[in-house]
Amino acid sequence: MIRHYIIGEPIETDSVVLNIPAETGEIPGFVMDPGAKAIRHRMDREDVIYGLGETVRGMNKRNWLYISNNTDDYMHTEGKHSLYASQNFILVFSPRASFGLYVDTPGRVTFDLGYTDPDVMEIRLDDFDANLYVVQDSTLPGIAHEFRHLVGRSYIPPKWAFGFGQSRWSYCTEKEVEEVADRYQQEGIPLDSIYLDIDYMDHYKDFTVDEQAFPDFTDFCAEMKKRGIHLVPIIDAGVKMEDGYDICEEGRKGDYFVKDEDGNDLVAAVWPGKAHFPDFMKPETRKWFGEHYRFLLDQGVDGFWNDMNEPAIFYTEKHLNEVFRRIDELKGENLDIESFSELTSLVGGLSNNPEDYRSFYHTYMGKTYRHDKLHNLYGYLMTRAAGEAFRTLCPDRRILLFSRSSYIGMHRYGGVWTGDNRSWWEHLLLGMQQMAGLNLCGFLYSGSDMGGFGDDATEDLMMRWLEMALFTPLYRNHNAKGNRFQELSAFAHPERFRPIIELRYALLPYIYSEFMKAALRDGMYMMPLAFQWPDDRRAVETEDQLLVGESVMIAPVYRQNASGRYVYLPEDMMLLRMRSWNDYDEIQLSEGDHYVKAELGEVLIFIRKGHVLPLCHPAANTAALDYSTIHYICNGGCPEDYELYNDDGITPVKDPLRA
Ligand code: GLC
Repeated sequence: MIRHYIIGEPIETDSVVLNIPAETGEIPGFVMDPGAKAIRHRMDREDVIYGLGETVRGMNKRNWLYISNNTDDYMHTEGKHSLYASQNFILVFSPRASFGLYVDTPGRVTFDLGYTDPDVMEIRLDDFDANLYVVQDSTLPGIAHEFRHLVGRSYIPPKWAFGFGQSRWSYCTEKEVEEVADRYQQEGIPLDSIYLDIDYMDHYKDFTVDEQAFPDFTDFCAEMKKRGIHLVPIIDAGVKMEDGYDICEEGRKGDYFVKDEDGNDLVAAVWPGKAHFPDFMKPETRKWFGEHYRFLLDQGVDGFWNDMNEPAIFYTEKHLNEVFRRIDELKGENLDIESFSELTSLVGGLSNNPEDYRSFYHTYMGKTYRHDKLHNLYGYLMTRAAGEAFRTLCPDRRILLFSRSSYIGMHRYGGVWTGDNRSWWEHLLLGMQQMAGLNLCGFLYSGSDMGGFGDDATEDLMMRWLEMALFTPLYRNHNAKGNRFQELSAFAHPERFRPIIELRYALLPYIYSEFMKAALRDGMYMMPLAFQWPDDRRAVETEDQLLVGESVMIAPVYRQNASGRYVYLPEDMMLLRMRSWNDYDEIQLSEGDHYVKAELGEVLIFIRKGHVLPLCHPAANTAALDYSTIHYICNGGCPEDYELYNDDGITPVKDPLRA
């Protein structure tokens, strides 16, 4: 059951698809404190809080402060409060009565989940206006299902988007892209996609291709497709300010950009320097911007990643001028601790500055809003622009689309990747834990940059990351400029990676089937153990294992130089210790604790009792997979018990699946 309450005068976000009449009166279990712009809930000692999508720390969000304020922050350390997304749904799992709460408001929300007082959950709103939805059901999957039904069906990508993808900032020319493809082919490692980062563009201009570097892009796309490889270009939110550049000119003429305090198009910088920012809050801007994806679609592209859409701002023109003025004043001074700190923070504070976010304006539903009032919608609506356009530009096929910034509602138009993580072991684990929150909030198509975006990856980290992410829908190796190359062919022993990537392909029938069933039935694809064993406290407290679909539990090795790990089994299971798709040990384990060996290159996959795991022969890419080779590894169940979902992987799926 879902109950709807309204606080103040909320701004509509279009994140909810059901029309649930609002009730008046008290919100059960909560105390309202309008003076403090807060609602409060007293927690029991055992209460666990899931949700909040892509945030720092573990799956149980209790005892930390999370702030929904979409932020371009490339340092995802545990002291942080905000990352790129605002996914304001929490599921409170409580022995008294579990419930879900969706705080639907596009401004800043602070989730104090026992940070100030360990017994109290306090949710503070910068503006005390919100739609609140309280979701009740007797089980955790039931609450998740009700909520997902409320916000609408999750985005479904084409099947090839479940294959392995290689990315780097950046492959700058045709030749560099070809070399990546060649090296994978030479190593016999399957590959479905190569990503094009900002340098494919002409001077970082959206909807352009650098003609020097890619002289015949259409031809090149076709050639790569023939090799089974899809090119996936990046699209950034900021539009380069340049006279004569069609997108900039059209945006100015059509009144499609956000406005500064004087009513002029805001000037703020990102990759190309000075840029304007589309006002994605306006449907006509979304239509205009969305239609420009056609430029790349027409050349054979069928996937995109939307970036810098918090929006990230390096500096605003106005703020930069103020900083230069102040620096001039400081020039020649004897800088003591105060003035020196001022100098460094003047420059350091230029990017993503909260004051700048309060200095520009949108037109939304006929009214003018200061940006910070609906800040968290920006990435969502940019991605919606693309998603909506694809429905008319190519109604007969699915297009891959995912975004860095998001808000609930965006999950209907695209997926997410978790942004600029690092080649750190703790981020390997974080990448897994974030999947639980993301699934709960509807972002089924998601994943982290495998190998880590920042810093240098080692061969063992890369291997363990590929193992951990074996079942994540987005399976992409991405890496930043300036770091050691981390294409699998760049390591000392590329051949050691082949079995793990082949295993990913062998598992694709299961991955795709479980993903699609979750999407089409508003279910969870990856979930914490509590979803299955709510009465088992050990299972509930397990933070480094996940259930994937109906048959599988994963338990990755996430510590360097470890050749195994402790695993907790809430019930008897069959362990597959897999070295490749056709070389593995089958071991029956009884419920309880086990130390399980897993050398580098060995993956631990647990099959639940009475369940089966379909596996097929691997292939060079998803299109070449042969489902007639599917065989089943059975732990008590038989293949007939398993509902294997499959389709052409291209045609948009219209109807929900009946449970
Ligand atoms: C941002 C993105 C990253 C990308 C880089 C250059 O940092 O998060 O994935 O590689 O920009 O476009």
